[in-house]
Parts: sequence; C-alpha cells; structure tokens
Amino acid sequence: MLHVTLPRALTLALALTLALALVVPVAGTSSFVLPSERMGWTAASVFPAAIPTISIDLDLAPEDRWTAAVGDMLKNHGFENSFGHIVQFWNKALPSILGDAVDDIAASLEDYVPAEYAAEMKGLHAALVAAGHADAMPFSRLVALNLLYEFTTACTSIVSRDAAGATWHSRNLDWTFDGFSLANLTVIAQFTSGGKVQYESITWVGYVGVLTGMAHNVFSVTIDQRTSHSYLEILRNLERMKHDGAQSVVLAARSALASATSFDAAVHALSTAPLAAEVYFIVGGADADQGCVITRTYTGVDHGLYCMPHGRTAPWFVLETNYDYWKAAPSRDDRRAVASAAMTALGGPAGVNATSLWGIMQTPGSKFHTRGVLNSLTQYTVIMSPTTGHFAGWVWQ
Ligand SMILES: *[C@@H]1O[C@H](CO)[C@@H](O)[C@H](O)[C@H]1NC(C)=O
Ligand SMILES: *[C@@H]1O[C@H](CO)[C@@H](O)[C@H](O)[C@H]1NC(C)=O
Repeated sequence: MLHVTLPRALTLALALTLALALVVPVAGTSSFVLPSERMGWTAASVFPAAIPTISIDLDLAPEDRWTAAVGDMLKNHGFENSFGHIVQFWNKALPSILGDAVDDIAASLEDYVPAEYAAEMKGLHAALVAAGHADAMPFSRLVALNLLYEFTTACTSIVSRDAAGATWHSRNLDWTFDGFSLANLTVIAQFTSGGKVQYESITWVGYVGVLTGMAHNVFSVTIDQRTSHSYLEILRNLERMKHDGAQSVVLAARSALASATSFDAAVHALSTAPLAAEVYFIVGGADADQGCVITRTYTGVDHGLYCMPHGRTAPWFVLETNYDYWKAAPSRDDRRAVASAAMTALGGPAGVNATSLWGIMQTPGSKFHTRGVLNSLTQYTVIMSPTTGHFAGWVWQ
C-alpha cells in the first residue's frame, strides 16, 4: 500500500495536499464541526452528579500511574459504558483524513508529545489491553482523545475575587461527544508525590492533559477554545508538534501545573510555551487580584494579558468564553454578555462564594436565542479556589 511504504513525513505532506484539495471548494464550511455542535443552544435537561476523586501517584513510572484507575473504571462501569464511548465517538466523528494522521502519530508518539506523557498514554492503553480490550480499543483512538483540543472545544471560564481577597475560578466545559457520554470516565484526579497532592485536575480516565486544573496556593488554570480549525490547519498544527517543538495545549497546562511555583511563573510559562494550536488560558492565583486571560497565538500573546483589575465590566472579575476580549462576541453565542450580567448582579466581591458561582455557571441563555452559560454542550462544571483549596466539580450527564 502506498501510505505504509512512504516515510511518515511524506504521508502527512500528502494528507496536507489532499486536505487543501478538500477544503478549498467548501471554504465557507471547512471548519471541523462535530455533528452535535449543530444542536440547539438550550440548557441541558439533565441533572448534575458529583465527580469521584481518584489519586494518580507521580512517584510511579509514568506507564504505571493510571493502571489502578483503569481497573476501577472497568470494575465500576464495564468497558462499554466507559472507554467504549471513546471508540464509538471517534468511529463516527473522526474524518478519515485526520484518522490517518492520528494513526501516524500513535505509531511515533514520542516525536509529538513529551516522553513522560507518551508513556502515560501507553500505560493507559496497556492496562486496557491487559484487561482483554486490545481489539475494542485501538491505541490510535486513545491518542485521538488526547488530541481532542487540537480538534475542537468551547467553554466559559471566570476568575473572580471575594470580599476576603480569595481568588475563585469557575468554569463550564462545553464539548460534544455526539451522544457518546464520557460522564462515567470523568474524575477529579489528584496527582500526588510523597503522599501529598501536588495538583489536581478534572479529566477523563484516558486523558493525560489538563483542561481544568489547580495547584493549591499557586494557581488554577482552565482552557477555552480559540478559533476552530479547518482540516488543513489541524494537520499543520499536528506537524508543528513534530517539527517546531510545539506542545499540545493541554500538555503545556499540565507541565505548568507540575513545575510553576508561583502565579507569575505560571503566567509566564503559559504565555511563552510554543503551542500546536491557539487557545485561551484563564489563570487564577492564590493572592488577591491574581486573575488573567492569556490570549495565545502559536508563539506568543495576542493583544497583551487581560487581567484583574481591568475586567471588562467590573474590576473584580475577568471572564472568557471563546472570543477575543477586544472584539464583540456573535449575538447567537453571547455567553460573555449572559455571564457578565449574572456576575455583575452579584454586586461585587461580597457576593462571590462557591454557592453563588455555582448559580452563575447555570445561567441559561436568553429567549433571544443566545446560548447560555449552561447549555446543551456543557459536560462538567467546576468551582475552584487556589487561595482556599476549594475544588469541586459536577458532571452533566
Ligand atoms: C455509566 O455506567 C453505568 C453502569 O455502571 C451505565 O448504566 C450508564 O448508562 C453509564 N452512563 C453513561 C452516561 O455512559
Ligand atoms: C453567598 O453569596 C450570596 C450572595 O451572592 C449570599 O446570598 C449567600 O448567603 C452566600 N453564601 C455563603 C455560604 O456565604
């Protein structure tokens, strides 16, 4: 077969050429839009469930860190009700042109992601193979899950300050798995070393990057999507990981949690890491008035940092959805206006606490067809405080 005898780089180059050919004639609709992103903007008609907490021991070899979590997941829910949804989702949603690229990446993962995280992904897969799911769970599907950000997402994140000066960071993760719920895979992972929690994250068992995380007394971080990509751009971004030392954005966030010892160091790391995709990093710090939105390009920060106390509508919070802060948001998806109005209604820092923020994150859209803070794509909600250590999450199933 042609594609197995070609060197990998050439295969990707060929894929790029094909993508160009596919994308150009349909320029207006070339973004990678997963099927259920076309769903309505109404609030999810579901109830939130508490998210279980697991422990990941960083003192173990990376290959072994997730083995117990995989075993527990299989014991609690069985393969079909957990990891099976990842496979079914990709079987339906992954365009073959990206599927081929992901197969390539899975075959030489260390060329694309840091060795430690590649080893965690391999260990996760090995645990599934050991449990008899080798055929049902191809490694490339697990790798594709870990590259999900590079494909698509959307979200709302808010950093605010309470009357005591504590920083609060709340977020909804809006994402679609096209009817294949990852609710059972959703966990609060506490990454420990020497028996102490170093940092924690809301994630899926199978996903080693960080979309939502916190290191107590240091900083909290969430990732919101910036720009959606054409197939051509996605393939180019994947190539950046191999040739330009660019990192997957969720692994850059995890590296920052693993190594930054201050809010400033975290902001610096997240402002400068070469990335494989554009993104918003929303960062809260343990001290009063430490909250910034970092609007990332591949190599730097666009339009400077947007930080407290220079919030758009009030000095005590900054808010990001999926649009550049210096631009208007589209009226059909003005979650920024919906969330800003709800925050402003709290009246100031005295109105900020875990309970009131939980209410904010459930604000519905308006009857004028603006999408709500809570909407049909919301997968989970988290309220965290790097100042107090509060870290709580609910999954919408
Ligand atoms: C979660 O797992 C249970 C079995 O433990 C199953 O009944 C349920 O349908 C699963 N839910 C989802 C959303 O996959
Ligand atoms: C949280 O703040 C709200 C006002 O936003 C207030 O009504 C409520 O009593 C506060 N709850 C706690 C536990 O302080």
